[in-house]
Amino acid sequence: MVVERTLSIIKPDAVARNLIGTIVKVFEDNDIKVQAMLMKKLSQKEAQSFYIEHKERPFYGSLVAYMTSGPVVLMVLEGNNAVERNRKIMGATNPAHAEEGTIRKMYAESLERNSVHGSDSPTSAQREINFFFPNL
Ligand code: CMP
Repeated sequence: MVVERTLSIIKPDAVARNLIGTIVKVFEDNDIKVQAMLMKKLSQKEAQSFYIEHKERPFYGSLVAYMTSGPVVLMVLEGNNAVERNRKIMGATNPAHAEEGTIRKMYAESLERNSVHGSDSPTSAQREINFFFPNL
């Protein structure tokens, strides 16, 4: 087992529906620790830059508009195999394909409004944590 850190975002749709505590509890119940937490409204520039790898995708503009539509909760999560385990706990990007019991299956509204983001690899985790928590 390797102790890892990963970046998690509780997205605007979940924040708007008072799901912050519910989602944090899912992580904590799975022995994942919240190491850092910050609630803020992302600027256009931050969202564009955070999702730069999707720049050429047709959904990029809509994704940026959605991610800046309301506050998000940024978290650094830590635990054994946290990157992979967080992705399992979140479920598939598209809630229609997510397994029962996953956060996205339970709470996501759509492929775009999918309630949570999680780093997809240890390399992305390092970039994403550094992006929002440069002093950690
Ligand atoms: P996330 O894990 O934050 O990474 C990129 C986000 O883009 C993804 O979650 C979805 O919210 C969104 N996304 C991915 N694919 C699509 C798509 N085909 N159409 C709309 N949004 C998408």
